[in-house]
Amino acid sequence: MHDDLLAYRPRFPILERTVHLINNSLGAMPREVHEEMALFARTWEERGIRAWEEGWWEIGVTTGNLLAPILGVPEGTVSMHQNVSIATHLFLSALDYPAERNRIVTTSLQFPSVQYVLHGEERRGAELVVVPSDNGVGIELDRLLAAIDERARVVSVSHVLFKSAYVQDAAAIAARCREVGALLLLDTYQSAGAVPVRLAEWGVDAAVGGSVKWLCGGPGAGYLYVEPELAATLEPAATGWQADVEPFGFRPGTIRYAEGAWRFLTGTPPVPAMHSCRPGYRILAEIGIGRIRERSLHLTDRLIERAEAAGFEIRTPRDHEHRGGTVSVWHPEAERLAKGLIERQILCDYRPGGGVRLSPHFYNTEEECDRAIGAMVELRG
Ligand SMILES: Cc1ncc(COP(=O)(O)O)c(C=O)c1O
Repeated sequence: MHDDLLAYRPRFPILERTVHLINNSLGAMPREVHEEMALFARTWEERGIRAWEEGWWEIGVTTGNLLAPILGVPEGTVSMHQNVSIATHLFLSALDYPAERNRIVTTSLQFPSVQYVLHGEERRGAELVVVPSDNGVGIELDRLLAAIDERARVVSVSHVLFKSAYVQDAAAIAARCREVGALLLLDTYQSAGAVPVRLAEWGVDAAVGGSVKWLCGGPGAGYLYVEPELAATLEPAATGWQADVEPFGFRPGTIRYAEGAWRFLTGTPPVPAMHSCRPGYRILAEIGIGRIRERSLHLTDRLIERAEAAGFEIRTPRDHEHRGGTVSVWHPEAERLAKGLIERQILCDYRPGGGVRLSPHFYNTEEECDRAIGAMVELRG
């Protein structure tokens, strides 16, 4: 299935030296990042102060434009920030929590950093409702939808859960939010680049994510999407001069917010981080996430089949509808097995309760998947 994608392998040098199955945590670096970083240094060296007028000032929005097709949203709606935690803070800073609608609904499987940010909102009058999971793998959709009612101001959930790669039904959650007048803030870190994301079609109000995993970008390139009509009504308290309508007027006093993605920016943009993530975005957009998803399901099916044949337990959803890009293979000594794999240059990770996590991307081969399971059998002894 889509073996033609293997033609991309030479563009990811680490693939020559390792079996790279850790794409849920850190994607392989595209070779073109060298040229992009050199472009950054050359522009700085040769153009000096003029670099600001030649792309640096706008880079937080132009880089977001490269992500727009991957997220299924129009250009001009995605702003770039340091990471998901900051992007979540920025979005929430535009909300208030009236007593009759002060709830933030989230789940016990939401990424911890986001949970910490949500708890911080309690100081501003928010009441946090945490929907539990029965099995630690997924959240029962009906239970989540039932927790979203007219008291909910915002619903903060992940499209794909970080620990189990369980895919949540973003369209159904968005529909429920619309029904009761709550805002959906979707974390797409574990889906964008691996699973088709169609935020506009699904009616998602806002989304956050970062670049270092499936998007094959560098650190420091988090993103925030806000639906344009909603964006026009929001005034983030966490702000800065890039969000002002006339930043070079250096007007003292209160801000007058710019339009679209600009109003969510803050101060001086992280220019090197923006360069580091552009090659990955371009490659993914060129391939198309539909093809990547088909290859991913093919490779994760194979991992599951081989692991089960070898007697391992799988702690990842089996059906395609609910499975993201990762297969969690359980064994009582999973931590030791993961260390053994890494010593053999088979890059993976371990999570308590989940086991060894193997996450192939479009550039991985079937043989690499087989090699990982074969090594686990040997290490198990
Ligand atoms: C779903 C999800 N959200 C957020 C993060 C990390 O957030 P940040 O960009 O703030 O480090 C991760 C990292 O593993 C993640 O998997």
